Amino acid sequence: AEMRAQQEALVKESWETMKEDIPGFSLQFFTTILEIAPAAKGLFSFLKDSNEVPQNNPKLKAHAVKVFKLTCESAIQLREKGEIVLPESTLKHLGSVHLSKGVIDAHFEVVKEALLRTVKEAVGSKWSEEMKCAWGEAYDQLATAIKDEMKAAA
Ligand code: HEM
Repeated sequence: AEMRAQQEALVKESWETMKEDIPGFSLQFFTTILEIAPAAKGLFSFLKDSNEVPQNNPKLKAHAVKVFKLTCESAIQLREKGEIVLPESTLKHLGSVHLSKGVIDAHFEVVKEALLRTVKEAVGSKWSEEMKCAWGEAYDQLATAIKDEMKAAA
């Protein structure tokens, strides 16, 4: 439980820093996703028809913020409840959107790597192995919930 509390604190603290520059971290996040997996470009409506990652695109920012915010909430729930609990309607929506866009399990690993690199970049010298594990674990649990829902909906 003490470890969960520490993990929650690390995630919350870094998310507070990141929230100060949503356009900046969103751009960095998507740039990193495409560096790791150029083909993922075709999945996103706001990327597929442009040559570079658009700055200040509301949909791009919305996806970036959702991923980070839900991961942060997952870290809180892991401490409070020991598991991730999303409202049924949210989970159903996330499952069906990603299924219909053609997202596969491997994409979740790409997004995880991009998320970790984006946090690292944002927090600078505050980055640590513990912070990496805290974000990684919260993200994994969230991603598993979404992937399970996608399988159930398929
Ligand atoms: C859309 C969250 C992972 C690709 C969305 C939406 C949310 C969301 C909230 C908007 C749904 C709506 O339209 O109302 C998340 C979370 C993720 C995650 C929390 C991980 C924990 C991924 C991954 C991919 C992906 C791994 C693929 C690389 C997409 C695409 C859309 C979408 C293509 C539609 C966006 C558009 O074209 O406008 N996601 N997502 N997501 N997501 Fe994710």
